Amino acid sequence: MNQYTFEDYYKNTVELSFTEQPYSPTPKHVWIICRFKDQWLLTEHPRRGIEFPGGKVEKGESAEEAAVREVYEETGATVNELTYLGQYRVKGKGGTIIKNIYFATIEKMDIKAHYFETNGPLLMKELPESLKENGKFSFMMKDQVLERSLQFIHENQISTN
Ligand code: GTP
Repeated sequence: MNQYTFEDYYKNTVELSFTEQPYSPTPKHVWIICRFKDQWLLTEHPRRGIEFPGGKVEKGESAEEAAVREVYEETGATVNELTYLGQYRVKGKGGTIIKNIYFATIEKMDIKAHYFETNGPLLMKELPESLKENGKFSFMMKDQVLERSLQFIHENQISTN
């Protein structure tokens, strides 16, 4: 069915679907699962902890453009290929957010003096099994969005190199 409803780390309801932008054609947020050679590329957010890069779509920008920009700002990495995976909607206390999920392969990484909003890039060979209990990881990595997205990448044989 490719559609899931569950609670996130903060007990907000999340709807997730691996179909073409089911909740909004113009989402305001993007999240990008990144792969550099044989490693996952993440970033360290100063408050939330380790997570895949992402952020808000700016005025006049497409979601894809925002994805490429956020990856560069937060990690110094240049996206090679960007693949849309799905979209999710979180109904929180402060309102509803809709986020596109992408998979990106990385072409090159620049060492930057300053990383916008983060402490820079982090490369990992494997994501730890116990990530959900690990305080170093962001809440965004702890609900079904990540595990279902990784499963989707795997099942659809999306090239990870
Ligand atoms: P910034 O500080 O500028 O990032 O804005 P903000 O704190 O208002 O955050 P944002 O608008 O990005 O998100 C508002 C709320 O939505 C957050 O506090 C979370 O509860 C929720 N949220 C945002 N992104 C995600 C996500 O990827 N997954 C889940 N489960 N919740 C999210």
